[in-house]
Amino acid sequence: MDKISRENYQFPKNFWWGSAASGPQTEGAADSDGKKPNIYDYWYSIEPGSFHNEVGPEHTSDFYHRYKQDIQLMKETGHNSFRTSIQWSRLIPDGIGEVNPKAVDFYNSVIDELIANDIEPFMNLYHFDMPMCMQEKGGWESREVIDAYVKFAETCFRLFGDRVKYWFTFNEPIVPVEAGYLYNLHYPKVVDFKRGAQVAHNTIVAHAKAVDVFKKLNIDGKIGIILNLTPSYPRSQEPEDVKAAHIADLFFNRSFLDPVTKGEYPKDLVEILKERELLPAVEPGDLEVIRNNPIDILGVNYYQPRRVKAKEDPVPAGAPFMPEHLFDPYIMPGRKINPHRGWEICEEVIYDIMMDIRDHYDNIPFFISENGMGVEGEGKFRNTEGFIEDDYRIEFIQEHLKWVHKGLQEGANCLGYHLWTFMDNWSWANSYKNRYGLVEVDLKNNLNRTIKKSGRWYKQLSENNGF
Ligand code: BG6
Repeated sequence: MDKISRENYQFPKNFWWGSAASGPQTEGAADSDGKKPNIYDYWYSIEPGSFHNEVGPEHTSDFYHRYKQDIQLMKETGHNSFRTSIQWSRLIPDGIGEVNPKAVDFYNSVIDELIANDIEPFMNLYHFDMPMCMQEKGGWESREVIDAYVKFAETCFRLFGDRVKYWFTFNEPIVPVEAGYLYNLHYPKVVDFKRGAQVAHNTIVAHAKAVDVFKKLNIDGKIGIILNLTPSYPRSQEPEDVKAAHIADLFFNRSFLDPVTKGEYPKDLVEILKERELLPAVEPGDLEVIRNNPIDILGVNYYQPRRVKAKEDPVPAGAPFMPEHLFDPYIMPGRKINPHRGWEICEEVIYDIMMDIRDHYDNIPFFISENGMGVEGEGKFRNTEGFIEDDYRIEFIQEHLKWVHKGLQEGANCLGYHLWTFMDNWSWANSYKNRYGLVEVDLKNNLNRTIKKSGRWYKQLSENNGF
């Protein structure tokens, strides 16, 4: 891997330094003040054993009650911006119809408190948290749910659009497709590519319609989407490997990136699905609304690359289609691994993403909306003063920022860097297994918060606008 080394790395004026989180992963109070269940609340109620250590979403980190204290900790860790999400099942508990006044009070207070502390609020509208009543109608497979989501989005814009200037329709919309409709990981645990493709298309339509409403309301702000980009690298430059990487990229990156930026699906992806009769149902007007509503700003979540090779393992006869029928995963010898999470660490990929956006996506404004290092069993790094010495996280951030800096110097339009995440939070079926925070949350001791070494360092990073 190339190494970059300079004495210091200064970032552009007004660069965003902060972190990302989400409502369902931090608020807790899952059945308080009128909130109704989302799919994770429901799934936990029927299958608690599917969640790490059987820790469910009912309390998470209790941001609902402790947001004022937490926002002070954001200040202490140098945040000038922070993303969270508005929970649909809290704001409109029945999915459609009545707005919950207690939820309005809560989100108003959070937004006001952030602004009072000079922290720009970024609001996302969907972080995997389908209201259960909407799932019962078919979730993203249902057109009725698209309409209900667009109403929910409009309600948010009208209620909070006077103060929130950065809006995001979805976080990682491909994850519910992968986890819920392909790989049997999350509720509703369907394994059916065609249904997954329908979920993907309907999500993109819901996104485009929400962008359309936002523009029509003439809100003074920007709207975008947050995508987890996992660039695909071929094992070799042999044409079959290169083709495999191209196909993986079509499925896992460009399936969402192209429609939200260029207004259309990649033609070769459409061809692949058409040949196999896997295209989703498209209603009149869908392609038009997608075409007419490109985003203003892109959030890029980057964790790790995808490495692939030409298909070698035979596909069992009659097996239902999976993208992996067209390529095999490739384990690159010598790759660097985060031993505490098992994910590859490859910092320069963040630069490749920046160059791809610059060269192939019109250099649209974007920011790194998530990047971070999950560590299981982080308590072992606690020092005698009682805080976690996570030098590995500081190094992880620095090594990525060096490449972000290089990308900026070469003309990428990157506006900021948000770490995943502010404080250790609950993460779906993984619960509190992998810790990502700048701030520790002590599950055994009243959810007490303690700033880690990385949190102290992050404040200096933000104050110096570089390191
Ligand atoms: C991100 C998601 O991709 O990964 C988060 O946006 C999630 O919601 C995070 O919590 C970490 O995942 P994990 O599985 O390592 O806890």
